[in-house]
Amino acid sequence: MKIPQNIIDQIKYQADIVDVIGEYVHLKKAGNRHVGLCPFHEDKKTPSFSVSGDIGVYHCFGCKKSGNVFSFLKDYLGLSFNESVEYLAKRYNIIIPSVEEKSESSSRTDLAFKALKISAEFFNKLLYTKEADIAIKYFKKRDFSDNLIAQFLLGYSPDSYDKLNKYLSQYQIDEQSMIDSGLLVVREDGKKYDRFRGRAMFAIKDIIGRVIGFGARQITDEPDQPKYINSPQSLVYDKSKVLYGLYEAKNAIRNEKSAILVEGYADTLTLHQSDIRNVVATSGTAFTQDQLNLLGRYTKSLFLVFDSDSAGKKATDRGIELALENGFEVKIARLPAGEDPDSLVRNNGPEPFRYHIANAVNFIDYMANEIKKEGAMDNPSSKADAVRSIVSLISKIPDMLQHDFYLSRIADIFDLSENQLKLIYNEKQELVNKAKKNIDSNKIQPDLKQLSEVQNERIINDEFVIDLEEILPEEKLVLQYALQGPKIFNYILNDLNLKESNFLSETGKLIYSIILEYSDSLNITQELTDDETINAKILSSITELAISILKPSENWEKFGSELKDPDYKKVLKDAKTRLELIYIDNELAEIRNMMKIADNDHQDRLLIRQSELIRKKDSLLSQLVN
Ligand code: CTP
Ligand code: MN
Repeated sequence: MKIPQNIIDQIKYQADIVDVIGEYVHLKKAGNRHVGLCPFHEDKKTPSFSVSGDIGVYHCFGCKKSGNVFSFLKDYLGLSFNESVEYLAKRYNIIIPSVEEKSESSSRTDLAFKALKISAEFFNKLLYTKEADIAIKYFKKRDFSDNLIAQFLLGYSPDSYDKLNKYLSQYQIDEQSMIDSGLLVVREDGKKYDRFRGRAMFAIKDIIGRVIGFGARQITDEPDQPKYINSPQSLVYDKSKVLYGLYEAKNAIRNEKSAILVEGYADTLTLHQSDIRNVVATSGTAFTQDQLNLLGRYTKSLFLVFDSDSAGKKATDRGIELALENGFEVKIARLPAGEDPDSLVRNNGPEPFRYHIANAVNFIDYMANEIKKEGAMDNPSSKADAVRSIVSLISKIPDMLQHDFYLSRIADIFDLSENQLKLIYNEKQELVNKAKKNIDSNKIQPDLKQLSEVQNERIINDEFVIDLEEILPEEKLVLQYALQGPKIFNYILNDLNLKESNFLSETGKLIYSIILEYSDSLNITQELTDDETINAKILSSITELAISILKPSENWEKFGSELKDPDYKKVLKDAKTRLELIYIDNELAEIRNMMKIADNDHQDRLLIRQSELIRKKDSLLSQLVN
């Protein structure tokens, strides 16, 4: 869909970047910007991620990623430009007028989303009709409240082969879109029919709340039917990349600083209804790396609460391994035999569940317990196997400092000497190191390639070498002010009459020349971000300048409070004067060198020039004092 430019401009104008990013990154106000831990790289201790509401950009001083609200939604949530616009329009209640002219692939995805949204609302609406009595009865039996049903978009799919198809057709959804979204099944003979019929419907949403698929539970006692029918892999649904309930849970996960991972739809819903909201479900599939990455955006601390059957045990083992390898902290809560979170809470209220979470154990205690249960502790060889498997998990934890802690825990539980353990540990560690080396040596190739690409780029685009370190403090100051908005930039350009030649460093000259091209712009940094021809390194450097707190110079600090609202005109004038002074000093140094080799005639001229420069220098110095 082609979105009119004026709407894009309106959205850009209304969208508050601090508000949008703040939903995903915990931001704190610091001066005239907000700071937080960078969501794009491992940013553990000091917040290096800055967001400026005034300029409308973010920048990470660590990984150098920067951009505006659209690039954030693209890089963080994986939204296309159109999707970001729609996302923001929805958030700020801006109506996008529909315009024809659709691009082929994006419109197919758009239509699939539309089909799913309309279907979810249709299934939900049906709940209020007689036809859905059986589903209402089922939800009541599970104690799902009306609020929960509305919030999670539960519903009922009519017991018919074409009712949904007909309904969607009224909304100009063609059959291809129904197939793309997994709602319509095409039989081998070409006949088409609705996939979900006569079932309780659980809408599955993505991280921004769009319906991407369904889980459909059987609610009749018809034999030989699968308990759940799920949406197939489709244009918009990939089950290995989705966690059920994440959209509704993400704020709670951030607040609680942990996520509870369960198996089923019902577990998620029942817990949510009992005010335990930091819950997501794997939906019966094996926990995947993609799902873990998704969670990692919100927390690095997991509780695994899978069913206490053999499938649940397997899922737990897999969850532990993935979590540890990825540097997550993981605890395991084991529920009484035969219970899952849903049944436990429904029958006994949330307290026993909370108790199990509060008493969740670390992976070593959990595994030792399982091994004891299997009676393996009494047999030396199975005991040794067990220890080996735990030690091998420990070696996978990226933070080596934790290894000793866990090793001594094993020594305790299994009654082993530290020496015996070290032996096994070293054995494993060697394997791990070998594996790492292999990975690293695989890496060398692409790295070298990348390097040479970077170098090529530099050769082709020599002007594109940016080194902020090289910029003089005075230059930096001027550039930072120039990026603060048209009022100051105008002053620099017209009153101060600052020219590219006033800059001494190459980098300073380059950046100034770029922003000069945008001198008409109201928000230079924003415009640059939208300009696809601008090199990412330049953009990052300019954003870094724009977002850095202005600190006129170290000397200014001494004046303390006077600095709160420094008179930018004075500051800039001084900066320009200082740059001129540096320029003169350079020329004077050159003159001194030339004097050593010059003949008489030449020396005279140099002396004249020298005294000119010294006079100029004095006058500049006196300007500085005033
Ligand atoms: N599941 C599935 N297909 C099945 C069985 C299970 O997709 N045939 C998934 C569903 O996401 C389900 C989860 O695995 O929620 C856990 O399975 P199970 O414990 O059997 O279902 P519950 O969620 O407990 O459902 P209920 O309580 O209604 O029996
Ligand atoms: Mn269950």
